[in-house]
Amino acid sequence: MKHAALLGTGSYLPGKILSNNDLEKIVDTSDEWITSRTGISTRRIAGKGEENFHLASRAAEKALTMAGLAAGDIDLILVATLTPHMMMPSCACFVQAEIGADNAFAYDLNAACSGFLYGLDLADSYIARQPDMKILLIGSETLSAHINWQDRNTCILFGDGAGAVVLSGSDSRGVLSSKLFSDGRLWNLLYMDSPESLNPDIRQENWQGCYMQMSGRDVFKFAVRSMEDAVSKLLTKENLTIDDITLVIPHQANVRILNKLMERLAIPPDKVYVNVGQYGNTSAASIPIALDEVNRQESLQEGDKVLFCSFGGGFTWGALLMQW
Ligand code: ACO
Repeated sequence: MKHAALLGTGSYLPGKILSNNDLEKIVDTSDEWITSRTGISTRRIAGKGEENFHLASRAAEKALTMAGLAAGDIDLILVATLTPHMMMPSCACFVQAEIGADNAFAYDLNAACSGFLYGLDLADSYIARQPDMKILLIGSETLSAHINWQDRNTCILFGDGAGAVVLSGSDSRGVLSSKLFSDGRLWNLLYMDSPESLNPDIRQENWQGCYMQMSGRDVFKFAVRSMEDAVSKLLTKENLTIDDITLVIPHQANVRILNKLMERLAIPPDKVYVNVGQYGNTSAASIPIALDEVNRQESLQEGDKVLFCSFGGGFTWGALLMQW
């Protein structure tokens, strides 16, 4: 059976850089507090009129160029996002029009920060049925539009950006295995209300706007435990150990979560790719941005095993193994 393998990767980060020193002028915080608690120094912010699908399309064009394909060669566009600029049509349909992928069908999926991993798993299922399919999978977010910039608990954490991959079937490379999980009972530890919420309690009593709401300490604990559990279960399922893994590309939430995860799984730091310091948490975009950076460094060899793991609102979490 063929598996979804990378033909190309691309990423796009908006030009505007927001530093911790800039944030000191907006909320009661400090560079020292943010750096020591999160490892984040800067994040990118989309410009006025720069919508989610613009970021997604720029990343997609780079991935297509690397793959040596034209937009018209793409059969399916999947965009993992929790920040589409409209509820309808999907961000994926806007991307289709923007890049001219006239032969594709297109839709979004929302699994918050786990969206890209869920998307890889989904793309692999399509490829199993139709190995020649060319799939453009994008993780793209404009979180800055959904942050309460007066809330120092959340506004320091997030950034905007997009990453994209082009996938098609391969016998020797690609997605090997995955373990995905959700627990909707824990939704209220991390959520973003919608302007048309039907939840009267939220709307009338506690509603604080359509912004990211987070119980930081709970999220921290669940994120570490859940990703540890997903990675352990995946390795056991595949009869592998951390020694068999060349590189771990985790969701880039914050450095302390990643350090705890490495400690609990006994992963040497040099096996983990970390760029959250530069970009902050870009939710569904974080893994494909990191993947594009890794790919362009050309440090991985054919046959290397790359492990991905993520955690996000829902809660959603999981781990996925890919052969390079
Ligand atoms: N600057 C200065 N002080 C702050 C700030 C800030 N930006 N934010 C909060 N504080 C204050 C709090 O008000 C509190 O003050 P108090 O003791 O007077 O009440 C104090 O700092 C400690 O606050 P805590 O919330 O207990 O701080 P904690 O050590 O837990 O760090 C943080 C907060 C960084 C949010 C941490 O809980 C965390 O990393 N959680 C995970 C959140 C996350 O990554 N979410 C992303 C979405 S999910 C995902 O992607 C995995």
